[in-house]
Amino acid sequence: MTATADLGPTAAGSGRLATERFTEKARAGAAVDQERVSAIATDALSALHEVIRKHKLTYAEYDALKAWLIRVGEDGEWPLFLDVWVEHVVEEVVNADRKGAVGTIEGPYYIPGSPQFTSEATLPMRENEAGTPFLFQGTVTDLDGNPVQDARVELWHADDDGYYSQFAPGIPEWNLRGTIVTGADGRFAFHTIKPAPYQIPTDGSCGALIAAAGWHAWRPAHLHFKVTAAGKQPVTSQLYFEGGTHLEDDVAQAVKPELVLHPTPAASGNGEEVTYDFPLDPA
Ligand code: DHB
Ligand code: FE
Repeated sequence: MTATADLGPTAAGSGRLATERFTEKARAGAAVDQERVSAIATDALSALHEVIRKHKLTYAEYDALKAWLIRVGEDGEWPLFLDVWVEHVVEEVVNADRKGAVGTIEGPYYIPGSPQFTSEATLPMRENEAGTPFLFQGTVTDLDGNPVQDARVELWHADDDGYYSQFAPGIPEWNLRGTIVTGADGRFAFHTIKPAPYQIPTDGSCGALIAAAGWHAWRPAHLHFKVTAAGKQPVTSQLYFEGGTHLEDDVAQAVKPELVLHPTPAASGNGEEVTYDFPLDPA
């Protein structure tokens, strides 16, 4: 990684790190019911068979697919691939009945355990961190609007170059990552900077698919957050900025109208601010 410090993140670097992070999380995790494995795997394979019939796949194309799938694994890009092209539908079905704050994909760059603050905080950032200063504030409530105490609001986002700490070289460990624990008023206020649009790494297997298909690799600028509280359903989502590029053609298809912020000039005179509340569904 240090050898690439001047070049920004590579697919190999961010892919490998995302794979390591996910593997740690997955080891702790989930047993999957055998009947559902059978039903889902059968339908997934049938769907693929239909695509092959529909497009009359050639052996050259089948071999290209095989070679590409092997390369995704070698590059460590499965988390990137799945979170960009598959996760948004999982999120859609899992959260279909939710009444409170709207969710969207988590993506591959969440790290638990970011530095913790109460009520109001400046996210960890470098001296002279580039980007428009941005105040992101609001209240965590229940569905009736009552404030929720001891809710954890975790925020993480890319820097002004579109890079995430811990996944790109040369950025301090917890840069632009932090957690606020709410007090009795349920309020949180993060002082940060506006992130830049994010381009998924173009130099690996996901980039190869994008180039081969003539697509683009961009996501609109976004803030990631996760809000958790005792007795409430956690919400994982992202917020975007009105007028931002790629709101209409996010490669990860994770933009929803409710998630587009309309910031105003900051009352402090420095940068912009926005208020956004998180009503949480009961668990
Ligand atoms: C990916 C990156 C993101 O920052 C994000 O929010 C979603 C997906 C990715 O590279 O897979
Ligand atoms: Fe992201």
